[in-house]
Amino acid sequence: MPRSHSLWQQTTTALTTSPLRNHARADVCVVGAGIAGLTTGYQLAREGRSVIVIDAVAVGGGQTALTTAHLSNEIDDRYEEILRLHGPDGARLACSSHRAAIDRIETICRLEHLSCSFEQVDGYLVLGRGAKERDLDRELEAARAAGVEVDKLPTAPVQGFSSGPCLRFRNQAQFHPMKYLEGLATALQRHGGQIYTGTRAVSVEGGQPAVVRTADDLIVQAGAAVIATNSPFNDIVAIHTKQAPYHTYAIGLRVPAGAISHALYWDTEDPYHYVRLQRTTARELGGDTDERVDILIVGGEDHKTGQAQDADERFERLTQWARERFPAARDVEFRWSGQVMETVDGLGYIGRNPLDAGNVYVATGDSGMGMTHGTIAGILLTDLIQGRANPWTDLYDPSRVRTGAAMEWVKENLNVALQYASWLTPGEVSSIDQIASNTGAVIVENGRKIAVFRDERGGIHKRSAVCPHLGCIVAWNPAASTWDCPCHGSRFDRFGAVVNGPSPKDLEKVT
Ligand code: FES
Repeated sequence: MPRSHSLWQQTTTALTTSPLRNHARADVCVVGAGIAGLTTGYQLAREGRSVIVIDAVAVGGGQTALTTAHLSNEIDDRYEEILRLHGPDGARLACSSHRAAIDRIETICRLEHLSCSFEQVDGYLVLGRGAKERDLDRELEAARAAGVEVDKLPTAPVQGFSSGPCLRFRNQAQFHPMKYLEGLATALQRHGGQIYTGTRAVSVEGGQPAVVRTADDLIVQAGAAVIATNSPFNDIVAIHTKQAPYHTYAIGLRVPAGAISHALYWDTEDPYHYVRLQRTTARELGGDTDERVDILIVGGEDHKTGQAQDADERFERLTQWARERFPAARDVEFRWSGQVMETVDGLGYIGRNPLDAGNVYVATGDSGMGMTHGTIAGILLTDLIQGRANPWTDLYDPSRVRTGAAMEWVKENLNVALQYASWLTPGEVSSIDQIASNTGAVIVENGRKIAVFRDERGGIHKRSAVCPHLGCIVAWNPAASTWDCPCHGSRFDRFGAVVNGPSPKDLEKVT
């Protein structure tokens, strides 16, 4: 099996800059150089604001490198559910905002001459196992009511896939997310913005000015701060009770060029499968010719973060599923996994940070639509910071409560409460000797839960298994070689350094 590595990581080089070396000041400080942070920074810089973007790792070093980059205004939770939760006006705004995000990405590509394989394609929603055609009929009615350009077909007019009855969503799109981010970062700098990678923010205080403090004890003072870090580290509770972290898996299979029509494909299963193709070349994949290669990207097999350790089986099921439906699929070239933050009502949280000063903003809750939600964040946060009205403000307000989402809220928070039982369970193994090379496991040592990683040379690395956010016990993630917290999605590398909030700190050292 190939190592865990996305197609996007293979075909680009991580873009890094120098870290922040002095205290700094700007109109806006953005934390997080993924699609939400960079789009926000870019939009503001274009309007003449001074912008500093900092990121702990690299441009796109978080979840943007792990997406499958569907650009769609068919909402992941389906319009039937969005209509129930947000009403007809909310569903129409959800539709128009995701449509606007796709259009904005296309506009930025054109304005900035970005070369990122942006491609208009149609999207097809097909029946999953056990689903009935009436499921499609209900979604058709709801999506049309929301203003989506959609029709029903007996089968998708595509090559290489027998879809059966399906809904066709017109004018969806796809792109290479990391090439897009590279171009966006360059454009942001051209418009005067500054980007500092290798610069970890550890705290944010609102007020005049807002103050972002880094792990190197430097501060950025700004008129406004934007936290765009997948899961906000500056919010301890308010947002984290309203969204839940899920882990999702993707594989990339080589297919003969042109054998399968470029389109977005989704089914109605729960968790659902999501499919698209990416055109690349043999050279980009490490070969020595410019022969065209298509990669079929298939995703799915989602589970709550930190609550499953059977990654190999999940990748295998995805492979089988792909081969049964796309007979042209050949070898698996890539496999990777990423985290999505599922909100209780299906839409992102974008706006003023709850219970904070008025000049701290947040973008989180991608809900499996990180590329469009990230772009919506760029548009909406720019308007809010510039003092302009935006019709999406209430729909994406991070402080919102939707009564129809109460059951989902109870279910997810009960799940979190149950995770604390891990304090009382035995370790995953009884002895360090049972931990294989390049693997981690939680053990109990002197009554404490310890996260133990054995490196390829047999070296043992120990950290406390207690998540510094709110004290849940982390679990080893074999797909990504990370320690993942099952409660709110904090993730740590194999040595215990935090790579994903809300934890603001590394796993504690064990003495
Ligand atoms: Fe909240 Fe770990 S992320 S306890």
